[in-house]
Amino acid sequence: MKLLLCGQMEAGEWQVWRDALAAAMPEAQWLDRPAALAAADEVQAAVVANPPPGSLQGLPRLRLVQSLWAGVDRLLADPTLPPDVPVARMVDPAMTAAMAETALWATLALHRGFFAYARRQARGEWRVHAQRRADEIGVLVLGQGEMGRAAAARIAQLGYRVQGWRRDGSPLAPLLGQAQVLINLLPLTPATRGLLDAKLFAALPPGAGVVNLGRGAHVVDADLLAALNAGAIGQAVLDVFHQEPLPADHAYWRHPRVTLLPHAAALTDPRSAAAVAVANLRALRDGGALAHLVQRPRGY
Ligand code: GLV
Repeated sequence: MKLLLCGQMEAGEWQVWRDALAAAMPEAQWLDRPAALAAADEVQAAVVANPPPGSLQGLPRLRLVQSLWAGVDRLLADPTLPPDVPVARMVDPAMTAAMAETALWATLALHRGFFAYARRQARGEWRVHAQRRADEIGVLVLGQGEMGRAAAARIAQLGYRVQGWRRDGSPLAPLLGQAQVLINLLPLTPATRGLLDAKLFAALPPGAGVVNLGRGAHVVDADLLAALNAGAIGQAVLDVFHQEPLPADHAYWRHPRVTLLPHAAALTDPRSAAAVAVANLRALRDGGALAHLVQRPRGY
């Protein structure tokens, strides 16, 4: 079986993925894009990590696109993605666990005011604030997929009052007033783009914390900055941005109430994800059922 492996990868990352995938499926031939194009009629599937648009063009026998990323918004936005080829998301247990850890860390730090203590340290200020109990803090997790559910469960273990929201479930507005901590783990679709806007921020309790672990385009940046500057939002923890890397002159970089991560809240772990991808590739080869298929019209 000839397979294309490509995507937006750091130097050396392609080789790491190739080695992990080849160890899990030694009988396959793992090709980069030039090699795949040279054997275009034999390439049956592509394993991709957030590939640049056009990466899947020119492969007429493609029968599966297996993403190494959980979020497939960029992949689906590629107008050259063959329309009838199934696309599978990555559901990597190690990545899900890492995301739950990041969500838990942000919740703990927001609840206990540890970001405020870090600001005071930078000023050389010794000052204690009141300590609240976990059961006094409402946490709202937007998105109830693999990651949203794992994060909510992990946070609930520590005694927080956790609610989960999914877009096709109950209305969001009544939940916002209790959410001292709002965690976004929604997929990016036309229906969720810009959901975190001025209206939503205004409905949160004063000084709430906003944690964006989904996609940058879920947030209206100007609205978040205005809410932070007005004190309506007390702190934002941001892992994802409209443009990545975040431009050097962006206001988030030096905002005292923004803690940012370089899209590192949860990385796909080749050690576990290779097995997940290979299980689907073997299912394709053997006529079995494919897992984690994206519903393209829905967008995830
Ligand atoms: C990372 O953001 C991913 O979607 O895997």
